[in-house]
Amino acid sequence: MDVRAEIQKRTEEIARVIASYLPAEEGYQRTVMEAMNYSVSVGGKRLRPMLMQETYRLFGGSGSVVEPFMAAIEMIHTYSLVHDDLPAMDNDEYRRGKKTTHAVYGEAMGILAGDALLNYAYETAFSAFALEPENPGIVPALRVLAKKAGIYGMVGGQTIDVESENTRDMTEEKLDVIYRLKTGALLEGAMLIGAILAGASAEQQKIIEETAGAVGLAFQIQDDILDVTGTMEVLGKPIGSDEKNHKTTYVTFAGLEKAKEDAEHISKWAIAHMESLPVRNEFLTALILQLIGREK
Ligand code: IPE
Ligand code: IPE
Ligand code: MG
Ligand code: MG
Ligand code: MG
Repeated sequence: MDVRAEIQKRTEEIARVIASYLPAEEGYQRTVMEAMNYSVSVGGKRLRPMLMQETYRLFGGSGSVVEPFMAAIEMIHTYSLVHDDLPAMDNDEYRRGKKTTHAVYGEAMGILAGDALLNYAYETAFSAFALEPENPGIVPALRVLAKKAGIYGMVGGQTIDVESENTRDMTEEKLDVIYRLKTGALLEGAMLIGAILAGASAEQQKIIEETAGAVGLAFQIQDDILDVTGTMEVLGKPIGSDEKNHKTTYVTFAGLEKAKEDAEHISKWAIAHMESLPVRNEFLTALILQLIGREK
C-alpha cells in the first residue's frame, strides 16, 4: 500500500464531505460565514475526520451516518485553532499556509467565527438523526463529541496550557495532562465516535479510547518537535511559537532526542494496543505509523 497516496486520496474525499456541510455565505451575517469557511476550507490534514472514518470502518461501518460527525469534529478542531491563534492566546499570523482568521477578518470576527464553528458543529452533527434514525449510537456519539471538546477535554487542556506560560513549576505529570486534554481529547473523540457509530462493544470502545489518547500524546509531542525543527513553508504555521510564548513543552522538558524517541515509543504502543482487538484496518495502522516523524 502506498500510504501517502492513500492519505492524499482520503484527504480529498474528506474535504468534499466537509465542504458539503459548510454554510452558504448569505444574509447580513455573511461575514461570519465567510470567516468560518475561510478557516475550514483548505490546508488542514483532516486527521480527526480521517481517524473517525477509519475507526468506523475498522468495526465494519459502511454508512454515511459518520459523515456529519466527521464534518463536526473538523469544525470543532478548526475553531480551537482559530482561537488558539488569537492575540490573547498564541498570537500567530499564519495557519494552514494562509493568514490566520483574525489577521484577515479582525479579532472580533475571529472570536465569532470560532464560536460559530463550535455551534455549527452540533447543528451539523444533529443531522445524523435524519440519516440513520435507528442507529442507537448517535446519542452516545453526540455526548462524546460534546464532552471531549469541553472543560473535560480540549478547552480544559488549553486552560492549563495558557495558565502555564511564563511559569517554572511545570512537571512531567502536568504536561501529560495538558497534552492528553488539549490534543488527545479530540483524537479520542474522533476514534470513539467512529467506534460507537459502527456498534463497537464497551470493551472495544475502551481500547480505542486508550489507543487514541496515546496517538494524541505522540501527536502533540511531534507538534512541539516541529515547532523547533520544522519550517513555516512545510508546516503552514510559524515555527518558534512555543518559545515566543514562553511555553514549557515536551521538547524543553525532555530534549529533542528523547522527545522523538518517546513519540515513536508511544505511537508503537498505540498500534500494539489497537491490534489487541479482533478487527483490523491496515490503513488505520499505517496512518498512525506514518504520524511518527511527520513533517507537517
Ligand atoms: C494542530 O493540529 C494543533 C494540534 C493539536 C497540535 P493539526 O496538526 O492536526 O492541524 P491541521 O488540522 O493539520 O491544520
Ligand atoms: C494547540 O496546541 C492545541 C489546540 C487545542 C489548538 P498548539 O498551540 O501547540 O498548536 P499549534 O502549534 O498552534 O497548532
Ligand atoms: Mg496553543
Ligand atoms: Mg498555537
Ligand atoms: Mg504547537
